[in-house]
Amino acid sequence: MREATVLARLDHPNLPKVSDFFSIDDNDFLVMDYIPGDDLRAVIAKAEANKQFLNEADVIDWAMQIGDALSYLHSQNPAILHRDIKPSNIKVTPAGVVKLVDFGLVKLLAPGEVTITIMQGQGTALYSPLEQYGGDSNMMDGRADIYAFGSTLYHLLTNTPPVNVRDRFLDPSNLVPPREINPAISPRVEDAILWAMELHPNERPRNVKTFLKALTGESTSSLRHLAGKVNFREYQGLDRTEMILLYIAGGLTFFSLLLTLIRNI
Ligand SMILES: Nc1ncnc2c1ncn2[C@@H]1O[C@H](COP(=O)(O)OP(=O)(O)O)[C@@H](O)[C@H]1O
Ligand SMILES: [Mg+2]
Repeated sequence: MREATVLARLDHPNLPKVSDFFSIDDNDFLVMDYIPGDDLRAVIAKAEANKQFLNEADVIDWAMQIGDALSYLHSQNPAILHRDIKPSNIKVTPAGVVKLVDFGLVKLLAPGEVTITIMQGQGTALYSPLEQYGGDSNMMDGRADIYAFGSTLYHLLTNTPPVNVRDRFLDPSNLVPPREINPAISPRVEDAILWAMELHPNERPRNVKTFLKALTGESTSSLRHLAGKVNFREYQGLDRTEMILLYIAGGLTFFSLLLTLIRNI
């Protein structure tokens, strides 16, 4: 129920307002705003029935709103992970406002805490990263939500659920690039989605803001390059300290040799 207290404190235009929570027997209940409109799974089903793909501009508009809510969750202290981002957990109101629902798997990212989550059915597993399989690992952070966010956008733009991560791990070519299914997707958006869906969290955008930038602003390749450069600089910094220590050690050795020589004369 600690999670519920934290949820009740949240206030964001793209999250339903949680007003109360209680338990009856072994069941926990959250009371929240009713969000009118369809969830994105229904929106995809309609597009599919019409044999049409959703418009990229609409999907990006929804993505910015989902990203804003996710960024807000991740910036809480301790960070809150949603852990179940997928089309059926996102609603669009008739006014076009997107709300992220279903806090069923929400987790506070407090250090040292480990919860085991049994994956609930096929549906969830499709959008989840490898590090979320069979329970949480210490590797799990906001980048797990970024993977599921990317997979959700993949589904929205291609009408095709992304291949599950285990099949991708066994054969990376199992993931069909989005533009092969829907050529109307722009190369920028395809690059950004595939970046978010990288198998290893270290290969993904480091936070939601960076992912949104790749979707709409700077290109994925330049952002990836920048991330590489930062690491390189950190590495160089370490190297310099090592060099200084080496010089000091060398100097001391030389000095003690000199002293020994002087004493022996
Ligand atoms: N606050 C809400 N207002 C309106 N509909 C909601 C709300 N929360 C969830 N829903 C709808 O109910 C469905 C199931 O709720 P959800 O919280 O996702 O539970 P589950 O754990 O069963 O997936 C969602 O897919 C969504 O369409
Ligand atoms: Mg749900």
